[in-house]
Amino acid sequence: MTIRFLDPLADDASALAYVASSFAFGQAVGAFPLDRDGPTGGECCVLAVTQWQTPIGFATFYETGHGKAWIDLVWVEGAYRGKGLGKKLLAAARREAANMALTRLEFGTQLDNAAMRGLAASVGYCERYTIMSLDVGEGESIRNRTVGAGRASLGYDENWGTE
Ligand SMILES: CC(C)(COP(=O)(O)OP(=O)(O)OC[C@H]1O[C@@H](n2cnc3c(N)ncnc32)[C@H](O)[C@@H]1OP(=O)(O)O)[C@@H](O)C(=O)NCCC(=O)NCCS
Repeated sequence: MTIRFLDPLADDASALAYVASSFAFGQAVGAFPLDRDGPTGGECCVLAVTQWQTPIGFATFYETGHGKAWIDLVWVEGAYRGKGLGKKLLAAARREAANMALTRLEFGTQLDNAAMRGLAASVGYCERYTIMSLDVGEGESIRNRTVGAGRASLGYDENWGTE
């Protein structure tokens, strides 16, 4: 097994196709959220291949400014999981990020993704932020908004602070 570094991923069309199809499969099995876009090809990628050049896993990341990079996708083929490849990919991403003078790597994952959380913790990542989310219901759609006093407001009683 060797790990290749692609910057950007789109430099290798077959690698981009592999990452994109793994992403689509990962979405279908719940590893990646459905409400996000796939790889653009502009990301950096560490790609693990067998001696026959068959891809077996990857990690992608991109710079976000202020010396930071976002680890976007991490994927190891089912037959190769639990053998330390995820750790090797994150180590390779860290090495490449350091070569790019980046000083911090960050990533987000679904709360119930025990494998990714375990992998990240095992190589020293810690939780610094929490992302809060709220699903906005049908009853609060823009169609129900009224305009008053020169601004848009929701169509419910807003006098709650004066009672
Ligand atoms: C997450 C993923 C990349 C882990 O890859 P992997 O090659 O199996 O990971 P490793 O073998 O390097 O494991 C490293 C550590 O992760 C932890 N880990 C791995 N699988 C785990 C699991 N199912 N549950 C809990 N911890 C787990 C272990 O603590 C392990 O450390 P140890 O060897 O000291 O015990 C892999 O499971 C995967 O591709 N999952 C689907 C895609 C995905 O969820 N990606 C992340 C989305 S953000």
